[in-house]
Amino acid sequence: MSEPNNSNQLESLQQRLGNIAKHQLISYCMALGDQLGLFDALAAIGSEEHPAKPKEVADKADCKERYVKEWLGMMACADVIEVTEDEKFFIKPENKEVVIASAAQMSMIMSVTEPYKKLVDVYKKNGPLGLPYSDFTTFYNKLSKVHEPFDKIHLIRDVIPLIAVQERLEAGGLRILDVGCGNGSHMSLMAEKYPKCQFIGIDIAEAAIQEAKSRRNESTGAAFDNLEFQVMDASQMNSSWIDSFDLVLIFDACHDQMRPDLCLREIHRVLKSDGRFAMLEIKGTSSIYKDKQMFGQAAITPYSLSVLHCLPIASNSEDALGLGTAWGQVRAESMLREAGFSKVDIVETPFFPLNVLYISYK
Ligand SMILES: C[S@@+](CC[C@H](N)C(=O)[O-])C[C@H]1O[C@@H](n2cnc3c(N)ncnc32)[C@H](O)[C@@H]1O
Repeated sequence: MSEPNNSNQLESLQQRLGNIAKHQLISYCMALGDQLGLFDALAAIGSEEHPAKPKEVADKADCKERYVKEWLGMMACADVIEVTEDEKFFIKPENKEVVIASAAQMSMIMSVTEPYKKLVDVYKKNGPLGLPYSDFTTFYNKLSKVHEPFDKIHLIRDVIPLIAVQERLEAGGLRILDVGCGNGSHMSLMAEKYPKCQFIGIDIAEAAIQEAKSRRNESTGAAFDNLEFQVMDASQMNSSWIDSFDLVLIFDACHDQMRPDLCLREIHRVLKSDGRFAMLEIKGTSSIYKDKQMFGQAAITPYSLSVLHCLPIASNSEDALGLGTAWGQVRAESMLREAGFSKVDIVETPFFPLNVLYISYK
């Protein structure tokens, strides 16, 4: 009795996995297009009225015509762009934004596989413990390219009100620290919005801090006088920072530290007694079974990024905790309490559906 059912299930699994393999190819080719600026070039010169020849797209993107023709053909067969009978191409105007944004996302995903060969060894019993940040030369930039437009919309409008500090930020005089600040996108948005407060971003990655230091006030183009960035290990912050900050923030930068426990203790030390610590982290229950039930397909992105990046990064020393993205609410709350925080509020962030905000008090 159960046989036809089993064979139907097997057939549909085979079909689903076959489609994934096909989509993986599309994704690689779209990432290539993003990397080379081919979508932008096509969008700039091709339209339904005046579709573009491969040579025109190639010239616009400073690429070789023969290769670009192959790529355009692939994109057309995948139904991402349009092709005419005389082999000219265009992107439908209503599709441009989605295609370009999706290609950037695929490019980001592609960049996380940069140390793929080393990763294979890391998983082996006798292989290296993990991967260093330096193995990911483009991932962080691409990640920030994907999330920066969303931060511009939501950080000031939606995140800050959840922490309930906007009036004090507007009044001024507060000191704010961003831990694992990356290229400084969050701090520069806040420094511009709240000019009477003082902002510091720290990150262990020198390249990220270099980039952060080059940020300018977007409306005036001037250098910030209320914002500084320092290379610093969050598990061992400046020893003179005791009760120094009114607000400490972490955006997606706790679970992939090797010693997040020490980092949380350091945050407790540097926070003023009436200060607030807000940590935006990946949403999760701390149970794979429950995550699967609760988030379904939405769990795929954080779990995959953990397999390819966050876990190997967070495991790269003998004493590393190796949390991974799916450490979840139970583990996060208990680590925050172990670090000394007496109260932890867990706040939903519907505008960032993969995240949750932990607001902690001394
Ligand atoms: C996923 S990125 C997030 C960056 C930034 N907060 C954002 O949202 O764009 C994680 C960051 O944590 C930083 N990081 C990891 N371990 C660190 C440590 N021990 N001390 C300081 N920064 C660290 C990494 O260099 C990286 O920039």
